[in-house]
Amino acid sequence: MKYQSQRVAYWFFASALLLLSLQIVYGFIMGFARVGMDGLHEWIPFNTARATHTNLLVVWLLCGFMGSAYFIIPEEADRELWSVKLAYAQLISLLVVGVIAIICYHLNIWEGRKFLEIPRPLDYLVVVNVLAFLLNIGMTLWLGKRNTTTSLVLYMGLLFAALLYLPGMVTVKNQTVDSFYRWWVVHLWVEGVWELIMGGILCYLLIKLTGVDREVVEKWLYIIVGLTFLSGILGTGHHYYYIGAPRYWLIVGGVFSALEPLAFLGMAIYALAMAKKGGRKHPNRIALTWSLGCAVMSFVGAGFLGMAHTLPQINMYTHGTLVTAMHGHLAFWGAYAMIVLAMMAYALPLLTGRKLWDTGVASFAFWTSNIGMVGMTGALAVAGVTQVALERRLGLDFLIVQKEIEMHFVGMLLAAALFTVGIGAFIWLFIRHGLPSAEARAEDFEGAVAVGK
Ligand code: HEM
Ligand code: HEM
Ligand SMILES: [Fe+2]
Repeated sequence: MKYQSQRVAYWFFASALLLLSLQIVYGFIMGFARVGMDGLHEWIPFNTARATHTNLLVVWLLCGFMGSAYFIIPEEADRELWSVKLAYAQLISLLVVGVIAIICYHLNIWEGRKFLEIPRPLDYLVVVNVLAFLLNIGMTLWLGKRNTTTSLVLYMGLLFAALLYLPGMVTVKNQTVDSFYRWWVVHLWVEGVWELIMGGILCYLLIKLTGVDREVVEKWLYIIVGLTFLSGILGTGHHYYYIGAPRYWLIVGGVFSALEPLAFLGMAIYALAMAKKGGRKHPNRIALTWSLGCAVMSFVGAGFLGMAHTLPQINMYTHGTLVTAMHGHLAFWGAYAMIVLAMMAYALPLLTGRKLWDTGVASFAFWTSNIGMVGMTGALAVAGVTQVALERRLGLDFLIVQKEIEMHFVGMLLAAALFTVGIGAFIWLFIRHGLPSAEARAEDFEGAVAVGK
């Protein structure tokens, strides 16, 4: 840690892990409801649990992105953060908005649009919050001593993510038009601008952890960013097949979304190539493991499993089934959860001065959570494919089919338990690092210099 203000990142990371834990609780509520154990139904029905689960996911990831930015930007810009107070105020207000939103869902106050359920008045608070964040990061960059490609890509990603929040706030009566714009937020976030955020963080981690020259690592970032935008923007069409949008989206969406996995494949090859080239010089190997794991798993979850249902001929049958949930889990985990956890694994020893990197618990957390998540994805895949065959091909009733596939959720719950143990280990290690300390400073900065960057 070079600058004291980077310490705010710690509190964003801690909040992110708290919200992740809560997300997992709601996942289990749904998982148990799926196998008939729905004792909480009166208070937390499935739809409430689902909205809470997915919204918590988005908020903890945003918290993680913001924490990462607060850690990365001062170092890249070579100055203290513009305002530490604003950063704390912004974290607290983000958490307050999150808690109010969750309470609203439990009181049945929401907008019935998947992923964008947050009631409109709260949207305005989110906008103010994100503006404060962007101002803080932007001023730090503006007043900083240097501008790097990494910080620019990261800032662009965060800025566009904020701008793309706005189409979700337009009120439209027509359902097709409403759906059309909803995807500008949901799709263009995860398959567009969030990829920039991920690319920026990954680039930073690779520069720090592999010892390869910044110029080389950053050069490839441009190519991947270009590929992401080229494919991702028109790839939005893979959500326009059957919502009432014009027919040409079938071909546009099919062709361009089929190119999207290339960006993820590019990212995986790039990360592995840099690690090989650099010869893994940095002592914090677990952070590199998370970084490479992220690059590989995002290709599997987003690229490969996205491809599995992105062509209109296939999506006609799989749309809105558990095949979607299968892909949603591994894609979010591989691309965004893992990059945030990678950043935490890298930053924590620097923030706290405790070098708990190559412990058995650290590897255990990585492997157990990943194997658990792959297991969950597998169970959802079997359930999803069976659902498609029985419901969409044979034409059985929706609820009869849901009953038929119930047992796959037992498998999912077992895998989810394994996943939770892995996350538990990660959190335990996080706590064992202790609080950020001012003394960590001098020594860590030397450590950072020792690996060359
Ligand atoms: C990290 C990147 C990605 C994440 C986090 C992600 C996540 C998700 C989620 C959560 C959904 C459900 C959305 C909803 O119904 O509201 C979804 C749907 C979908 N995703 Fe992805 N995805 C990613 C990348 C991709 C890629 C690269 C492809 C294609 C190659 C793809 C193809 C699809 C398709 C076709 C659907 C619609 C499924 C349906 O019709 O029900 N995704 N994705
Ligand atoms: C251990 C814990 C978890 C369990 C038991 C669990 C379970 C579930 C269940 C049952 C659903 C609803 C599926 C349906 O509609 O029937 C769901 C939705 C979802 N979960 Fe999880 N989940 C867990 C953790 C996670 C994690 C860690 C992530 C992300 C990294 C995640 C991302 C999602 C997403 C994106 C959806 C919405 C999928 C869609 O749009 O179809 N879940 N989860
Ligand atoms: Fe999409």
